[in-house]
Amino acid sequence: MSLQNQTIIITGASRGIGKALALTLAKDGSNLSLVARNHQELLEVKKEAEALGAKVLIFSGSVADEELVKKVITETAQTFGKIDALVNNAGFGVFKQAAEITTHEWDSIFETNVKGTFLFCREVVPFMKNSGQGHIVNIASDVAKRVFDGGSLYCASKYAQDAFSMALRKEVRKDNIKVSVVYSGVVDTHFHKREEGDPHQARYLSSKDMANTIYFILSAPAHVVIDELMIHPISQDY
Ligand SMILES: NC(=O)c1ccc[n+]([C@@H]2O[C@H](COP(=O)([O-])OP(=O)(O)OC[C@H]3O[C@@H](n4cnc5c(N)ncnc54)[C@H](OP(=O)(O)O)[C@@H]3O)[C@@H](O)[C@H]2O)c1
Repeated sequence: MSLQNQTIIITGASRGIGKALALTLAKDGSNLSLVARNHQELLEVKKEAEALGAKVLIFSGSVADEELVKKVITETAQTFGKIDALVNNAGFGVFKQAAEITTHEWDSIFETNVKGTFLFCREVVPFMKNSGQGHIVNIASDVAKRVFDGGSLYCASKYAQDAFSMALRKEVRKDNIKVSVVYSGVVDTHFHKREEGDPHQARYLSSKDMANTIYFILSAPAHVVIDELMIHPISQDY
């Protein structure tokens, strides 16, 4: 199914997986609302996406900012007349021994990875219910299903995001709203505090691999829902 003229909100779209997805969808002629904190980077993604044929709105701020989230949903619906899909992709990690994690680090991770997903879902679901359809794709991680030494905070946030998504799926399926979760292994992005393309990340998934995967989920026929998708580079043990 083509995603031409579909209206899709992507959080964390200034770089990495979110940017790659925005540019993939732009080639299909989707209407995009892109969210991240870095205004300059968002502007650059907007220019690239428009050059590929998309109509693009950008919103700079944190996904944990309730007022911003409400603005994104309202202005997207007003501008494009509908909201077909939401991709909750914004997120980051802090990897430390539990005893070393600061309260600020704990709160920041949960604000972005969990509260951001919750706020966007809460605000978009009424619009999707009214239009009788919708698709929410939450970008979790394979560490929403396994833990590792040094991952207590990040894993806890991804388990929470996943549990929220699974319960939401049960609530909204009867309203014809799909909830998909992507569980990914390592991806070559700035997430790992290295530039995209760094040789240390050469055997990781690329952000384009992830964009193609999310595109596949979004473009399934109307009667098909990919509830969960696990993806790794072949080089990563699982
Ligand atoms: N890379 C991996 O190996 C990997 C593996 C599994 C899962 N994931 C997940 O994939 C998602 C995307 O990560 P990535 O790999 O593409 O990393 P990335 O290149 O660091 O991109 C993260 C994106 O999230 C945005 N962001 C972070 N905090 C935000 C906030 N509070 N409000 C709004 N936007 C925020 C960043 O933009 P600003 O800084 O401009 O706000 C950026 O656009 C994350 O949820 C991550 O947990 C990544």
